[in-house]
Amino acid sequence: MPDDQTGCERTKTGRRGCPGIQFGVVIIELALANIVYKFDLALPNGAKIEDLDMSETYGIVLHKKSSLLVNLSARL
Ligand code: HEM
Repeated sequence: MPDDQTGCERTKTGRRGCPGIQFGVVIIELALANIVYKFDLALPNGAKIEDLDMSETYGIVLHKKSSLLVNLSARL
């Protein structure tokens, strides 16, 4: 990247890129890992994986069009 640029607008890299992104990603992974480890996950109302609507839509980030509904039961 040339010196006269402060960063890439699209990828948010460069000198003004986020200094906390690695920390943020690790915290999210830790939270998700805890949920998967401590709970059994099941689809509600007998739904099957094939029934899931995996279509996407745009917002600040790319996300699922419809929420993923999951029943959690504690196993630890
Ligand atoms: C997944 C979590 C995070 C995401 C997605 C995220 C995203 C971003 C984005 C898109 C920017 C703008 C970068 C730019 O303008 O080029 C930014 C800037 C910044 N972020 Fe984060 N961030 C996250 C976590 C954090 C955390 C945990 C901290 C601090 C502990 C942090 C501190 C900062 C600071 C200080 C800036 C301003 C950098 C500057 O302008 O020089 N971020 N972040």
